[in-house]
Amino acid sequence: MSGYEPTRGEILIHKLVCYSILSPVYASYVRSMAIQGNEQILEFGSGSGAMSKHIYKRLGPKGCLACVDISRRWLDIVRDRLGFGTRVEYHLGKIWDLSLSEDRFDIAIVHFVLHDLPRSERVPSMMAIRRCMKPNGTLYIREPDEAGHGISLDEIEMVLVKVGFRIGSSNSRKPFLRSRMNEVIARK
Ligand SMILES: C[S@@+](CC[C@H](N)C(=O)[O-])C[C@H]1O[C@@H](n2cnc3c(N)ncnc32)[C@H](O)[C@@H]1O
Repeated sequence: MSGYEPTRGEILIHKLVCYSILSPVYASYVRSMAIQGNEQILEFGSGSGAMSKHIYKRLGPKGCLACVDISRRWLDIVRDRLGFGTRVEYHLGKIWDLSLSEDRFDIAIVHFVLHDLPRSERVPSMMAIRRCMKPNGTLYIREPDEAGHGISLDEIEMVLVKVGFRIGSSNSRKPFLRSRMNEVIARK
């Protein structure tokens, strides 16, 4: 196991919270995305699959969801949730090491991952994501902005612009009691 693996306790808590209490939050974010059903979608840092399930439900027979994670345990869990088939793929490892085709994805989703990456990995990761997106493909990114743990809207935009994304819209909201969420929609 790599140093990125969650403990049994973390998995249990995550499943309890994200599959039930937070499920409507994930569902509403996915509903806000322009998904027709025939897209190739990349989910970077799919974790427990809390969001993957909602994305997957939106796909028709021609669509495909590629889940990428650095943790084998999380990827096994999302695989248990979604199963096998032609409409879903699982990729383990650093995104720049994976053999994802260039210009493949219509949509890329990064949810609560960028802030967790070491600073030195933020630009290379977003660069690798951009590389495998179609020209004009859409990136949806949402990150927490809490004191001591999170990433500001300015920092997110700086990374995206540095790797060549065009910012479409961005906002910073406070939907919960304490944590602020920063959302950006950008294009390749
Ligand atoms: C806080 S969880 C968010 C999971 C999911 N996106 C969600 O919103 O429920 C962060 C996830 O990103 C993954 N992750 C962290 N660093 C990564 C990297 N360099 N490449 C791919 N996944 C990574 C972690 O293993 C974990 O599953």
